[in-house]
Amino acid sequence: MNAFRAVKQTATINLRLLAQSIKRNLREVGLIKTFERSDDAEQPARVGTRKIGAIRLICGIPSPAIKISAKAFLQNDHMQTKQSHAAQLSSRIESASEQLRENGAAALEWVAQYLERVESLPVLAQVKPGEILASLPQHPPAEAESFENILADLDKKILPGITHWQSPNFHAYFPGNSSPPSIVGELLSAGLGVQGMLWTTSPACTELEIRILDWLVEMLDLPQSFLSTSNGGGVIQDSASSANLCAVLAGRERATSFGANEDGCNQRLTAYTSAHAHSSIEKAVKIAGIGRKNLRTIEVDENFAMRPDVLARAIAEDKQAGRIPCFVGATVGTTSSLAFDPLLEIGAICREHNVWLHVDAAMAGTAALCEEFRWIHRGLELADSYCFDCHKWMFTNFDCTSFYVADREALTETLAITPEYLRNTASATGSVTDFRDWHVPLGRRFRALKLWCVIRSYGVEGLREMVRQHVKLAQKFVQWLRADSRFEIAAPAELNLICFRLQGSDQQNERLMQALNASGKLFLSHTRLNGKYTLRFCVGQTYIEEQHVRQAWEEIQTQAAKVL
Ligand SMILES: Cc1ncc(COP(=O)(O)O)c(C=O)c1O
Repeated sequence: MNAFRAVKQTATINLRLLAQSIKRNLREVGLIKTFERSDDAEQPARVGTRKIGAIRLICGIPSPAIKISAKAFLQNDHMQTKQSHAAQLSSRIESASEQLRENGAAALEWVAQYLERVESLPVLAQVKPGEILASLPQHPPAEAESFENILADLDKKILPGITHWQSPNFHAYFPGNSSPPSIVGELLSAGLGVQGMLWTTSPACTELEIRILDWLVEMLDLPQSFLSTSNGGGVIQDSASSANLCAVLAGRERATSFGANEDGCNQRLTAYTSAHAHSSIEKAVKIAGIGRKNLRTIEVDENFAMRPDVLARAIAEDKQAGRIPCFVGATVGTTSSLAFDPLLEIGAICREHNVWLHVDAAMAGTAALCEEFRWIHRGLELADSYCFDCHKWMFTNFDCTSFYVADREALTETLAITPEYLRNTASATGSVTDFRDWHVPLGRRFRALKLWCVIRSYGVEGLREMVRQHVKLAQKFVQWLRADSRFEIAAPAELNLICFRLQGSDQQNERLMQALNASGKLFLSHTRLNGKYTLRFCVGQTYIEEQHVRQAWEEIQTQAAKVL
């Protein structure tokens, strides 16, 4: 069976199993007894209507039966033990757990149905600005509303304003792919509601994260210096932007012997990144107080990769002028064209001048799951820090950036601050990790849980297979483009992002993209390469199959004929 159809089926099956399990539980506790006398009792889970109540939605049971049965449930002798246990529960918790069972089941079924139909929805939201806003009440409800009504409004009012990132026809920007284990992991995390700022506020939140980030080092064959058992280690952050900021801050502090934290920045600090680096590097440099004017934008070569010779010259000139180079941001897979900066050469320059080297592998890092793509990280052992987004291409819901440092003390000395109210015995021993010192926010969600669910549910081989399949599909697209002389490929296309354009004007290319996106059949985005308007086609959706890429290509050809 096709791997992607299997994933999709698993998604549906998992959620159906949940429905069945709820039904079984209801049977166990006696609630289902009455249903069995009803004709509807054994009907399979129904889909497609939101007018029925939550339990009915999941079990195919008529709403009135639920009320009768709920009564039966309370009166049932069999339930007395459970009732006495329930009597010990606060009534608030009891009603919360009931509410969660009912609404949660309905919500899961809603998501399962969404996944089943997402492929047929227009990928790019077709609403006009303000349309969704206008459909929403101006004032909040004074009284409680039923979850059934909320779900109905989700369909009616919210869904039309959704751009479907989970559609297999989504090829824009970068993937934001998710998966059933990740969705369930998010749910578990929300259920625990843990705030893992300190080891002591939930030791498992910290220790699972440490273990998973070590797993990722092994899975992607990252440098051993990033392991928690070395001087470095990893942490999960909300985004690559935040990770980039932390790297800039650590670089700034190391270069000033942690003096900028004390005295503020003078205007002598300088930072370096390529003209194709993500805008979050520039943002980080601004936030860090280094100043945008002190960020050197290094020229790229014909493949849009940073030129080490230009970098070396820029650093040397700055040093000569009495400036303090503190940070180099290299990219593994640039946003525009998936260019790969030469880490070996850049790393050597950074070592020579003792400048912090950060490597941002936001989407492309995931490719290193597969041995044949590990060349993208050649030279990474020279980096001081590194990040990649599991929330882009690793089947894990946003937000989940893995951020590593080779020297954790440089990072924690930059960010640690301990007010009295956070002091505790475990931290004082120095034997535990408090991740609050590894990023900007104090509070932190239990994100490792979803990653744990993903890695265990697919296994490393399963993840590898999906990534390989994406690259294979992208390369098919490349072949089709090459065979059509109306198109040109605008950048090296080695993995899952293809930059291409019509051999025509910018206006024609822009019209092509607008027509494609307006069709609702696919969604792609654009960039500018060598000054030319260029379309980007990214393959990374969890549920994508060859037919989606083929259909996209056919639509591109059809629209191209109209534009030319
Ligand atoms: C290379 C690169 N870095 C950083 C980012 C920002 O990612 P995030 O949304 O996780 O901050 C992106 C997003 O496209 C990216 O491509």
